[in-house]
Amino acid sequence: MQVAVIGCGYVGLATSVVLADLGHHVTGVEIDSRKLARLRDGLAPIFEAHLQDLLTANLKAGRVEFTDDHDSACRGARVIIVAVGTPTRETWEIDLSQLESAIDSIAGALESQDEGAVAPVVVIKSTVPSGTMDYLRERLRRSCAGSACHAERAFMIASNPEFLREGQAIFDTFYPDRIVIGADDEEPFVVLDELYARIVSQDFDDSPPRPARPPAFRSPVPVIKTTPRSSEMIKYAANAFLATKISFINEIANLCEEVGADINDVARGIGLDPRIGPQFLRAGIGYGGSCFPKDTKALHQHAGSRGYTFTLLNAVIEVNRIQRYRFLARIRRALEPLSGKTLGVFGIAFKPGTDDIREAPSIDLMRELSRDGASLKATDPRAIENARAVFAGCTYFEDPYEVARDADAILLVTEWPEFLSLDWKKIAGLMRGNLVFDGRNCLDRNALGHVGLRVVGVGR
Ligand code: UDX
Repeated sequence: MQVAVIGCGYVGLATSVVLADLGHHVTGVEIDSRKLARLRDGLAPIFEAHLQDLLTANLKAGRVEFTDDHDSACRGARVIIVAVGTPTRETWEIDLSQLESAIDSIAGALESQDEGAVAPVVVIKSTVPSGTMDYLRERLRRSCAGSACHAERAFMIASNPEFLREGQAIFDTFYPDRIVIGADDEEPFVVLDELYARIVSQDFDDSPPRPARPPAFRSPVPVIKTTPRSSEMIKYAANAFLATKISFINEIANLCEEVGADINDVARGIGLDPRIGPQFLRAGIGYGGSCFPKDTKALHQHAGSRGYTFTLLNAVIEVNRIQRYRFLARIRRALEPLSGKTLGVFGIAFKPGTDDIREAPSIDLMRELSRDGASLKATDPRAIENARAVFAGCTYFEDPYEVARDADAILLVTEWPEFLSLDWKKIAGLMRGNLVFDGRNCLDRNALGHVGLRVVGVGR
């Protein structure tokens, strides 16, 4: 099947290479010239496991290509997937401008479509509030007004949100928990069934460069077919629920600190109840990244615009905002005055497995500590380049041991496995102080205690 993917970010790029690898012909549209140049050189512009190998293999096989020309990408495409960013404004309102401009470009492409060309399905993958697909359909119709693409069946449209996690984007695209499709009539469902047929039935071998299929993975993958508004709401509700779980466990952790309980034991104790489940109960310094912070705010604002006050979600957002400052307060209390102290920061990315630093707690923490007069050294397996571009008040090192040298304390901000397997005895020897602030409760307190380090966690 001929597929165009507009927007080559995490979602668009993962979708492009996986669909290409499963036999479709994919043209990715990217308007950022630097990104496009990298892609055309065969280089992944982001770090994501398996991405580079899949990109290389599928470029070589001629199944994927990249352009900045919407017309050529959309010409003849059976499916046009829109996967552009939907950031939030200061007011928490969603900014649809990238989507609008993608839709306008599609309108232009449809106008130049050959007469009698088969009507493509425009698939909205970007995360948007309920009702946005209807608005975009009207915009597309209006932009086409007067031209051939204004005809009733010139295009179809569907909502098809994406649930992939950064760091596992390729894995999640090959092995999704579910596929959600929202459409108003039957044909888009039929076309998308065909697009995803091999994923749904898992009709492919999982040899490299594909990630291995998990042993318990069940097929067929459930496909939820619903209305566009429900489909759009499923995505927001999923992210808001997961964010709620995190803020909930963080509040319990804060209470554990007051009463002398241990949040790791509490989380395990509640997570074994299948109604609660063990996932997303890791307490720490709060969620970051490109999705939860923006999607929770956008959903809250969207509810408000409909006259509904989403009280719970407001609290989730506020708890998450405060959580990193509680951690900061503990650091300040233990080390005051910070002026003249050297702090080593382990982990800058918002989570392990990615070079993404959007809404990463690390950056806020470093800014505050630098304002306090502390001198900062930081390391991250993947995110140093991105961090340098936004925060210059720190010396960055590839080598964690260099970060530990002469540090009065270490702050573990991202739970990269690389940090867990460090030689902590060596680190203790290199440090000036003995405090390790574990913002992710991932270090073995007893083991570090044996080498003379004192670990301060969250909720323990
Ligand atoms: C999330 C959703 O998981 C994904 O389905 C959606 O498509 C996009 O948003 P992502 O942002 O890539 O994916 O990362 P995720 O692994 O979900 O983690 C989000 C944040 O929550 C991270 O900052 C992580 O550190 C934090 N987190 C997660 C916790 O603090 N505790 C947890 O128990 C789990």
